[in-house]
Amino acid sequence: MELLFLVLFALHILKREALAVSHWCYESQKYEDPLCQGPREWYQIYATCKGEKQSPINIVTKNVVLDKSLNSLNFEGYDVKESSAWDIENNGHTVKVTLDTSAKIGGGGLGRKYKAAEFHFHWGVQVGQQYLPGSEHSIDGEKQAMELHIVHIREDASDIEAAKKYANGVAVLAFFIKIEEENRNYTSLISELENIKYKGQTAQMEPLPLSSLIPPEEDLGRYYRYEGSLTTPDCYEGVIWTIFEKPIALSLSQITQFSTVYFDGKNSTPMAENFRPVQFLNGREVYRSSASILLPTAKLLLLLLMLTYILSSLCQ
Ligand SMILES: *[C@@H]1O[C@H](CO)[C@@H](O)[C@H](O)[C@H]1NC(C)=O
Ligand SMILES: [Zn+2]
Repeated sequence: MELLFLVLFALHILKREALAVSHWCYESQKYEDPLCQGPREWYQIYATCKGEKQSPINIVTKNVVLDKSLNSLNFEGYDVKESSAWDIENNGHTVKVTLDTSAKIGGGGLGRKYKAAEFHFHWGVQVGQQYLPGSEHSIDGEKQAMELHIVHIREDASDIEAAKKYANGVAVLAFFIKIEEENRNYTSLISELENIKYKGQTAQMEPLPLSSLIPPEEDLGRYYRYEGSLTTPDCYEGVIWTIFEKPIALSLSQITQFSTVYFDGKNSTPMAENFRPVQFLNGREVYRSSASILLPTAKLLLLLLMLTYILSSLCQ
């Protein structure tokens, strides 16, 4: 009897230990914390993570369906600077800015207006002179260096938890970030990273107009659209994804700054490769908007035609 009691007690302790360490993490954290639950195990704690409409996905362009009703989105308040300071946070998974803004999106086949709630990033890792890309979505198998997610919730929802009660509660705008020239509009945000090195740290920063962090509106007519999920637990399904074709440009040194923050406290792993692997499409369609960017050759042809026309009218 006493032995049984002891065994039960030991089991109880073990179970408690197991629960205490079973927090979700990215694959890149398993080296430091082998017991944490990586993307393939998330469903053990959060059943939705093995649902049929998960994100991110690889977009295969030859299978994408043109949807003529997908016109340009309306960006409301995107060029306004918020009056209150931005809270930038290292939450142990990403760098996140919580928004308290009137910025909204509508149109573009969304069906209703959604208000901006927060934005955060996913990134890769530097290996020698190379950068292993860390975007979540990919196009024809190709990933980009980073991905920015601006998370919007239904206008009538008070916060993200309330929005998740609906079937279409969340709309995320996704932007790829490519290694190019330096983007000064990101200077202040990146310089805050040294103040949020460790998990749980927050800092306040001067707000920026959201439009200054993304490509100009005239470049946002081309995008992909599909129904998916949040890419972190609880993997809530009910997210309308908009993935813009035009990437944001940052320099390599700006991109590598993101890995100066850590997944946890001092001596923990630098935050890198904080992306979820691509998920099955499971019969979902991916649509593309109708706006078309003229191909460089088409532009050249048009220019030649115009020149010919002008010259011929001059020579008459
Ligand atoms: C920076 O922001 C300004 C103002 O919003 C904008 O006009 C400019 O195009 C942005 N620069 C880049 C590189 O995105
Ligand atoms: Zn994200």
